[in-house]
Amino acid sequence: MINKVVFISGASRGIGESLANYFAEKDYYVVGTSRNDFNFKNKSKNLFPIKLDITCRESIKICFNNLKEKNLLPTILINNAGITSDQLFLRMKDDEWDDVISTNLTGVFNLTKIFIKNMIKNKGGRIINISSISGLMGNPGQVNYSSSKAALNGFTKSLAKEIGSRNITVNNVAPGFIDTDMTSYLQEDAKQEIINTIPLQRLGNIDDVSKLVYFLASDEASYITGQTISVDGGLLMY
Ligand SMILES: NC(=O)c1ccc[n+]([C@@H]2O[C@H](COP(=O)([O-])OP(=O)(O)OC[C@H]3O[C@@H](n4cnc5c(N)ncnc54)[C@H](OP(=O)(O)O)[C@@H]3O)[C@@H](O)[C@H]2O)c1
Repeated sequence: MINKVVFISGASRGIGESLANYFAEKDYYVVGTSRNDFNFKNKSKNLFPIKLDITCRESIKICFNNLKEKNLLPTILINNAGITSDQLFLRMKDDEWDDVISTNLTGVFNLTKIFIKNMIKNKGGRIINISSISGLMGNPGQVNYSSSKAALNGFTKSLAKEIGSRNITVNNVAPGFIDTDMTSYLQEDAKQEIINTIPLQRLGNIDDVSKLVYFLASDEASYITGQTISVDGGLLMY
């Protein structure tokens, strides 16, 4: 069997690293990126770390050509890399807006645009975006971040409609509060306050997200597209 190739942006830590390990253990080849040089702690031969800033289209082109040469173009793309730059709107600087939008939204456009053609050629593929419940319910101090993540809902639905006939699914996973570097700034009492509002009474862990993403990438999820699925312990219910 030829191993399937998964491309995961932002795989040096947190949710992306967990996803990389999850797929590698199941015999997928995993290409994982970060803006900085990094190595996976897991020494699996299926893991390929690369330095890539997803906001830089020139670097993405070079990366694409390298992967093509090595026969490592992905059939599964996980747009996971994301940043926050929290600030109350009245104090928000242009840079704080631009950086978050260019990573969390334009970065998703950049990677999807370059990898989708090969999925069309292969007559199948999976695109999974990692958004956030902040994009669904809003969060003070996160006008930039929640705008970028809400935009991924529209991106997902429109693209799913455009390429469903090509046997490519596009879905959006919206984590709630997950215990990673991104939430490590929270003081213990603030954390406890959040936990009190979560029906399952705990922060999520990175495996909670990986399991859902893995399912959406699998053949079992071949009839699911254009959806935003939350993994948030019940924090947001419609
Ligand atoms: N943790 C949560 O509670 C939570 C909740 C909802 C949604 N999410 C979303 O889940 C995703 C992963 O979050 P996380 O908590 O795992 O974050 P994290 O621990 O901060 O990791 C973010 C990853 O993205 C990489 N990255 C950032 N900017 C990049 C860029 N321009 N190009 C390439 N890689 C880049 C980082 O590496 P470098 O810094 O080395 O580039 C790192 O590997 C994000 O999209 C986030 O918005 C997280």
